[in-house]
Amino acid sequence: MANMSNQIFNIQLNKNKRNFECSENDSILEGGLRHGLAMHYECSNGTCGACVAKLVNGDINQIKHHDFSLTKDQKNQGEFLMCCNAPASDVALELELIGDVKSIAIQNIETKVKKISFVNDNLAIIALRTPRSKTLQFMAGQDVELSFKGNTSRYPLASCPCHGMELEFHIRNMPEDAFATALFTKKMKSKSVVDLEGPKGIFVLKESSTRPMVFIAWDSGFAPIRSLVEHAFSLEMPNPVNFYWAYPADEQVPYLDNHAKSWQAIMDNYTYIPIACEFDRSSKNDCHKVAKQIFDALDLNIINQSDLYLCAPAEVLIYLGELLLENGLNEARLIASPI
Ligand code: FES
Repeated sequence: MANMSNQIFNIQLNKNKRNFECSENDSILEGGLRHGLAMHYECSNGTCGACVAKLVNGDINQIKHHDFSLTKDQKNQGEFLMCCNAPASDVALELELIGDVKSIAIQNIETKVKKISFVNDNLAIIALRTPRSKTLQFMAGQDVELSFKGNTSRYPLASCPCHGMELEFHIRNMPEDAFATALFTKKMKSKSVVDLEGPKGIFVLKESSTRPMVFIAWDSGFAPIRSLVEHAFSLEMPNPVNFYWAYPADEQVPYLDNHAKSWQAIMDNYTYIPIACEFDRSSKNDCHKVAKQIFDALDLNIINQSDLYLCAPAEVLIYLGELLLENGLNEARLIASPI
């Protein structure tokens, strides 16, 4: 009979001085990932052994069968697989968290297209699914390379690292991008095979910073910004969040305006400011003018005391970065990623 109760236990990570809550019905891996912890894992189903941790105190309950065999020594040491065990009391664990982007290996995964949603003629949201046995390990804000029939491009992930099996990308219809062309000419369809290589890039959250956080996205630069903001929420970071989103002035609102607004319900200290700008997402723009339009909408008093995360086309990044640095932003607090 299914377990109808849902007791919540505290999981203490001894080495890292972190803790999180986990239901008795969830694996400790799921609980940790949901709270934004960068845990080592690959398969989530007990075959790879990557999610091993050591139980220091408390009781656990095996909720899934696993094919991976722990040695007798490992068992005697209290080691177990986090993807197959749930807490049965408050527990204390020892495990290695992923410290930085360098400690994540580049992975090659054959994914399949799960869903393609065209926002309009020049923007699409694509969801890829990995095999059950090979989920993608990455940090919020990172990129991957996607290849379809020899056409390769690099895109930031819009999804949360806690869902390594379902990966979302926001793709513009750029004539010089052959991968995007295959998508918009409908050569790529549901169930098409897309090869993935990654993760790459260092556009990640400064988790230990206590400064306010400002995020600026130019159109589909929303993808990695969303991943970062939601990661900050799952870590329950108390830092105030300000989000500026530049969108084409001939559209009424940014393409996921309601999603950006919905963060207000999660966080008291959150401000969202859409910025209507004169640009066309599919062609060359006057990036100087766009950068100035974005700059004029910013509150410099907030910006200059914050960590600033900026995702935009390279030229916009350069011009906007120059304006910000000339007007008092500390260079060390600017974290930028081109799209
Ligand atoms: S993630 Fe592979 S065994 Fe747990």
